[in-house]
Amino acid sequence: MTIDRCYCFQKTFAALKAVAEATGATSVAALQAHVEFGQKCKLCHPYTRRMLRTGETVFHEIIEEADEPAESVEG
Ligand code: FES
Repeated sequence: MTIDRCYCFQKTFAALKAVAEATGATSVAALQAHVEFGQKCKLCHPYTRRMLRTGETVFHEIIEEADEPAESVEG
């Protein structure tokens, strides 16, 4: 299993990382101001937050909000 994108909007985490690096966006909301993703099922949000924290863009495990540090979970 490989998870490498927001499937609803077909935006890879690598592409989102490039946008984050170009704009300085450090949250899902800040990224969404620059690129359309993450507005349907929102299952990509925990992966996007991990990408923002660690730089990883390809994942091989299910990541849910419960797997994240509490302070990184957005409302
Ligand atoms: S996978 Fe990103 S909104 Fe559904």
